[in-house]
Amino acid sequence: TRIDKGGHKHFMAKEIAEQPGVLGQALQHYLGTDSEIHLPGAGLDFAGIERITMVACGTAFYACLTAKYWFEQIARIPVEVDVASEYRYREPPITKGTLAIFVSQSGETADTLAALRYCAGKAEKIASVVNVPESSIARESDVALPIYAGVEVGVASTKAFTCQLTVLFMLVLKAARDRGVLDAGTLDSHVQALRGLPSIINQALEQNAAMRDTAYKLSTARDVLFLGRGQMYPLALEGALKLKEISYIHAEAYASGELKHGPIALVDEEVPVIVMAPRDALFDKTVSNMQEVMARKGKVILISDARGLSEASQGVWSSIEMPEIPDALAPILYALPAQLLAYHTAVAKGTDVDQPRNLAKSVTVE
Ligand code: G6P
Repeated sequence: TRIDKGGHKHFMAKEIAEQPGVLGQALQHYLGTDSEIHLPGAGLDFAGIERITMVACGTAFYACLTAKYWFEQIARIPVEVDVASEYRYREPPITKGTLAIFVSQSGETADTLAALRYCAGKAEKIASVVNVPESSIARESDVALPIYAGVEVGVASTKAFTCQLTVLFMLVLKAARDRGVLDAGTLDSHVQALRGLPSIINQALEQNAAMRDTAYKLSTARDVLFLGRGQMYPLALEGALKLKEISYIHAEAYASGELKHGPIALVDEEVPVIVMAPRDALFDKTVSNMQEVMARKGKVILISDARGLSEASQGVWSSIEMPEIPDALAPILYALPAQLLAYHTAVAKGTDVDQPRNLAKSVTVE
């Protein structure tokens, strides 16, 4: 089948807009009518799993970092995450009871595949989260979990990232159930929240014009900082990656609490600082880090929900309102502003959005 841009200016714009639909597809494949999580294909029982190692590259690596917070908080399993190019050469010892999870859109990334082969025969089980079910990584796993994102053409990953996060979140719920640490009522509220996800993502897409206006202001910056805490820290990393990949603006992300240990030295009136802060349990902490930036005249772009903005947006350079969402799912929602800010900044700068210089969609050589 021929893939076209479906009326959009770029594949990336089309793929961002497709997210409510493809997320709905992914949910359908994993959610039954009974509120339990059903993994497609071969089973995976977490009862005997003592720890998890997650390995990936690029955007898929940030999906793993997010899932670490979920696995540890919701399923109470210790998780280690590494980039594949490091993991494969550091000869990590793999102890009994280790589940190794590889996340890859293409399923063909050379470093990720090599890391998987290193684990084969050593780990208890090898699982993968992939967009291409026929791929090498899927074929060489004991359990391959498809993300159902559909073909992704833009080099900068968008819909694959939110689908990876959604499938990983469901895997976490399954793990928590298998281990007996999640009661049926709490599971049910997570599942209800998941079912509401496509419509919340749709609401976020309605903020497109606000994000375009903010991106226009960003497009003249030389350096941009992204801040987030807890499960929003990997989203800050993903926001910085997206921006540098397609707009070529230097961007870095920090865990908000780490700001005072170095990066605050970079802040002056020239530096936009994007703060990803839903009104969750860590909100006040993030806001106090944000105020340290404002005290040094940094230009803050605050991304939060109505409640967060009404409490903390005084004096910021710009703000973007996200819909309210149950705390655990905020990383999936906040991927949208990360994607759209990068997209509109790149469009404003006139770069080749779908085919950025020096980058490939899938890196099949080392
Ligand atoms: C390349 C792409 C990224 C992607 C990474 C991992 O660098 O440009 O968008 O995140 O590879 O790819 P994978 O197919 O393994 O998810």
